[in-house]
Amino acid sequence: MATYLQSLSLFIVFTIFTIAAIHGSADLVLEDGYTVRTVFDGNKLEINPHSILPRYGSSDFIILDSSKSVFYTVSSPLSQESEIKRLSGSSAGFSDGDSASATFSKPRSFAVDLKGNVYVADQSNGVIRKITNRGVTTTIAGGYAQKTGKVDGPAQNASFSKDFELVFVPEKCAVLVSDRGSQLVRQIDLKVEDCRRSPQSVLGGAFLWVLLGLGVSCLVGFIVGIISRPYVIPQTGSLLPTLFQRDVEALPNPSGETSTDALLRHQKRNC
Ligand SMILES: *[C@@H]1O[C@H](CO)[C@@H](O)[C@H](O)[C@H]1NC(C)=O
Repeated sequence: MATYLQSLSLFIVFTIFTIAAIHGSADLVLEDGYTVRTVFDGNKLEINPHSILPRYGSSDFIILDSSKSVFYTVSSPLSQESEIKRLSGSSAGFSDGDSASATFSKPRSFAVDLKGNVYVADQSNGVIRKITNRGVTTTIAGGYAQKTGKVDGPAQNASFSKDFELVFVPEKCAVLVSDRGSQLVRQIDLKVEDCRRSPQSVLGGAFLWVLLGLGVSCLVGFIVGIISRPYVIPQTGSLLPTLFQRDVEALPNPSGETSTDALLRHQKRNC
């Protein structure tokens, strides 16, 4: 009897713990407000998008098909109508040069700098490659070593494990290598000119500043108008500079409108 009661109580305790565990693992917060849609279907194009990154300095995207060892540029917006261009040769290999002759060996990671240059973790070849924004491929690290290792120093003499990824860090003007095979994070400093925003985005920035400047001058005009409003005696408008006086006189002024009302209106019209 005692053993029966013991096993019964054990069973009950076990059941309670199991229920608690199930409830504990269902501790999810389902946040609404997001939508998923397919913008590019590689099935029809026979392109397997192993990874995709925006190419800075242009509106294009870069897609890596790792199994084919091929890079593509895809024009924006992403759709079945996007223009697709091959950035490298159509088979696996190890050669530099223009987009027709450059080959890679099953790369699985790449990074893009602010100039639109692409850095490729070409791990099967034991090197890091660069595809310039003009489409020319070079080898920038591991070119002498070409074998696995963890040697630092001049990049061509450096070596990497068989498993590493790249990420571009604009603040450092560097590519970081997460060298998983050696449990290391390694840094390759880039050329300063590759970390400046392209002229295209500089122009865009200047345009933004002009817009911002216009907005601020409008705002200041309004604030000046509102602040000076109570101090201006109706009809006389003598406190206003002649610059605005001209505008006030040009406006019909019924119902005792103050000069600053006119100034505010003037400001509104200008903005
Ligand atoms: C890098 O490798 C080259 C070619 O093997 C060699 O001549 C050079 O001395 C090496 N440099 C360093 C710093 O190890």
